[in-house]
Amino acid sequence: MRIISHIEDLRAQLSGQTRIAFVPTMGNLHEGHLSLMRLAAKHGDPVVASIFVNRLQFGPNEDFDKYPRTFQSDAMRLEKEHVYALFAPTEQDLYPEPQTYRIQPPTQLGDILEGEFRPGFFQGVCTVVLKLFSCVQPRVAVFGKKDYQQLMIIRAMCRQLALPVEIIAAETVRDADGLALSSRNQYLSSEERAEAPRLYAQLNQMRAQIIANREQVAQNLRQLEDTAMQHLAEHGWAPDYMTIRRQKDLLAPTAQEVLANEPLVILAAARLGVTRLIDNLEV
Ligand code: PAF
Repeated sequence: MRIISHIEDLRAQLSGQTRIAFVPTMGNLHEGHLSLMRLAAKHGDPVVASIFVNRLQFGPNEDFDKYPRTFQSDAMRLEKEHVYALFAPTEQDLYPEPQTYRIQPPTQLGDILEGEFRPGFFQGVCTVVLKLFSCVQPRVAVFGKKDYQQLMIIRAMCRQLALPVEIIAAETVRDADGLALSSRNQYLSSEERAEAPRLYAQLNQMRAQIIANREQVAQNLRQLEDTAMQHLAEHGWAPDYMTIRRQKDLLAPTAQEVLANEPLVILAAARLGVTRLIDNLEV
């Protein structure tokens, strides 16, 4: 595997490749990331990964400096997955001057849910992803469904800007007890780790309630959401949101839409101790 940090070297190395499958990451790779590499290999060749901890998407009180950087072991894992090239730019490579041109996602998609609790997050994500796409020039790129809103926003960005990149969605990888794999799980204490699967269990319970009784749920969506948040709070969580939305645009469904089997997704974000976990489940 070639490890490349300069944009010109990357372009030279990839020149003439028309079927590149790209997986952008911020490193600290786990089995979830490796599943993205494997999915990428099914959709293109060569597979190119990137590792870049993107300062633009961290808020002032977030963990940019603390974000785990494990480059050597990440590179070894990617090598084992037969990744062709790892693009690992420094900040100087990717942001040699202040990044004043930025991609601002539309309010109705970018300022809700994660965007409401992490102002500027999706602007940072879209800006770096567009820039990485410009460097790598992939035909397809793979993103995990665990970051459901991110996946939707990037898809919409590609559509709106007519980028020639097909976005492939990868299923969330979970531990045996249901906890979605995330770099942030390592911040959990052992008691918090034991408690953490409750988030997914709660999503499953809401999903089961929707499926079992659409008529009743349709009239009481808010109540179902509030009860779920309260249940988490009773077990030591500080929930930001636990909400039922339409898959197509992440807006709240009407009662009629719930009755008419509108595809839904339940999205959750909650803090356990100092660790903020997110998860979601399609209905
Ligand atoms: O999902 C992530 O790891 C990041 O948001 C991404 C897409 C690599 C952009 O920095």
